[in-house]
Amino acid sequence: MDRNLALEFIRVTEGAAIASARWMGRGDEKEADSAAVSKMRERMNAMDIDGTIVIGEGERDDAPMLFIGEKVGNKKGLKIDIAVDPLEGTTITAHGGPNAIAVLAAAPAGNMLRAPDTYMDKISVGPKAKGYIDIDATPAENIKAVAKKLKKDVKDVAVIILDRDRHKKLIEDVRKTGARIRLIRDGDVTGAIAPAIEESGIDILMGIGGAPEGVIAAAALKTLGGEIQGRLKFRKDEERERAKKMGFLDDLDKKLTMEDLIKGNQAMFAATGVTNGEILKGVRFTSKGAITHSIVMRSKTSTIRFVEAHHNV
Ligand code: FBP
Repeated sequence: MDRNLALEFIRVTEGAAIASARWMGRGDEKEADSAAVSKMRERMNAMDIDGTIVIGEGERDDAPMLFIGEKVGNKKGLKIDIAVDPLEGTTITAHGGPNAIAVLAAAPAGNMLRAPDTYMDKISVGPKAKGYIDIDATPAENIKAVAKKLKKDVKDVAVIILDRDRHKKLIEDVRKTGARIRLIRDGDVTGAIAPAIEESGIDILMGIGGAPEGVIAAAALKTLGGEIQGRLKFRKDEERERAKKMGFLDDLDKKLTMEDLIKGNQAMFAATGVTNGEILKGVRFTSKGAITHSIVMRSKTSTIRFVEAHHNV
């Protein structure tokens, strides 16, 4: 994919982040999300791309903007598939908590899993532990394997898990191993990427979160050299039926590898911090406008850029 697109994509996530950051702590998830969605769409439509939203705000009937299948861009450029999460951490933003981001991933058309809007069981690690995890193994087996590869004691391994009732047993199992846990309220895109960022202090992500978030995280982990494995977890039969109709996977219960989530080495990932987080600073409003902090990655060259932008609004 054209390398200039990477920088164009930052403008898209920057716009969404600034728009939603205005809603920080104001207790209104819907407004925070819709501000991000409309700004992201507006900026994307100004790009020289022939894009299709493959992961978006929902199905056409439920989502007026950035719905699955929506065409974006001025159709003059490359045919690409795009996964968006204009505001990853709507609740976080509404409460002024940490780690909310505006994020998107892109790949040449046909290279991205069209993940349905359901859950995914996930496990991810950074480059050093790549190849040493298995979503079918027990938490204890995975933690031991990662500890060994990282040359750490199990008690020094840190696992990041979404704080949800469904993870009661997982949390117990991890605690039994002696490993440490960072429970997060929301935001498992950042959680899945964290093990590949050494300074995060996180070694493994485990647990069930959104399926779209799994695909978006895979785009980043391709560049960072980490690994994510997943398996779809349907909440109801209706969701399974819908996924079957979409026909994107022959076996809906398949173990999903990096290659299943994003094919090839042409993925891009861009994110801008909305609120302060582990990897990115949140939007800061100044007398002149706003300062944003973003990350953009291209898997082809494994280039990672952090961009601090000062906007005159
Ligand atoms: P949104 O803010 O984009 O809705 O997602 C937040 C999030 O925490 C994701 O990071 C995670 O994958 C998902 O929600 C988990 O879903 P649930 O809140 O239903 O457990």
